Amino acid sequence: MRSQIVGTGSYAPEKVVTNADLEKIVDTNDQWIVERTGIRERRVIAEGEATSDLAVRACQRALEQAKLDPKDVEAIIVGTVTSDYPFPSLATVLQGKLGNKKAFAFDVSAACAGSIYAMAVGDRFVSSGAVKNALIVGADALTRICDWTDRNTCILFGDGAGAMVLRPTSDARRGIANIRLHADGSYVPILFQPGGGSKDPISERVVREKSHFIKMKGQEVFKVAVRSLEETCREVLEAEKLTPGDVTYVIAHQANKRILDATLSRLGIPAQKCWMNLERYGNTSAASVPMTLDEANRAGWFKPGDTILVMAIGGGLAWGAGIIRW
Ligand code: COA
Repeated sequence: MRSQIVGTGSYAPEKVVTNADLEKIVDTNDQWIVERTGIRERRVIAEGEATSDLAVRACQRALEQAKLDPKDVEAIIVGTVTSDYPFPSLATVLQGKLGNKKAFAFDVSAACAGSIYAMAVGDRFVSSGAVKNALIVGADALTRICDWTDRNTCILFGDGAGAMVLRPTSDARRGIANIRLHADGSYVPILFQPGGGSKDPISERVVREKSHFIKMKGQEVFKVAVRSLEETCREVLEAEKLTPGDVTYVIAHQANKRILDATLSRLGIPAQKCWMNLERYGNTSAASVPMTLDEANRAGWFKPGDTILVMAIGGGLAWGAGIIRW
């Protein structure tokens, strides 16, 4: 048995922050941001709004497409690092908002790779027959943990949510064929939120030193990202006895256009096969992959049997790549 994606949904908050808006806050400019990242604008969560408010809308859209009543969902697995509360999980908050009592619900913490990790976990539950369906979500509001005075990071991130519904299929030509996950904890210091956790709990000092915001060594992340994504894409393609030429479409975490261009060019996959939306949303962390998948799906990109290569990398570092037969 395999698990098949039978519904997708996404949601981005209404407020748009353009590069021109950022020019007024930090020493940057539209040309620099577009050339170095490909990002033109991003969406930012409103005051009083929480990550679950974005996630619930994405879930409703995915469930509607899957024709699945929210009350009948059996598993809710959410990739996020910006839950509404430090605890409990965003998944349980979401379950409550969906009016569901049946599902078990938990979060997966793998930063920008959160949704590919969540997809891999959900796939195991569905393909093993443990549950009849699973709601897989990627949702983050990284702008809440961004230092809006740090031009190295605040230009990159945006908020959003994406969701997909998995159901079992006995058709061996369709569904999630394979997902390979990796992590390398020696890279924790190049992309993390140093303060506000158990190591250095929130305090006046933490806030004063701004260590509760994202810290990143951008160039190092860039280099490891391109190398790791290429390696893992090759690994999963080989495991499925495929070559890059067999890939119909690519759905990739939208971190930086240059990271994606470099990875695709190393793999020999034309950039046109990769759905891009980071010019409109920036890096939405765990939301990125399911939001991108939903846009491409609703635009009618995928036909039954298409081979879709999925990839993501984020803080940890944690990353993964997968093959979906649509
Ligand atoms: N606007 C204008 N100038 C900026 C700037 C900004 N927003 N941010 C940095 N600069 C400056 C730097 O200070 C530096 O100036 P200097 O040469 O006078 O010292 C110069 O631009 C080059 O900075 P550098 O850090 O070398 O740029 P870069 O080409 O590596 O691009 C990133 C920076 C962050 C865009 C790039 O490293 C990147 O995208 N890395 C990956 C980050 C990522 O995707 N993280 C999430 C992974 S999930």
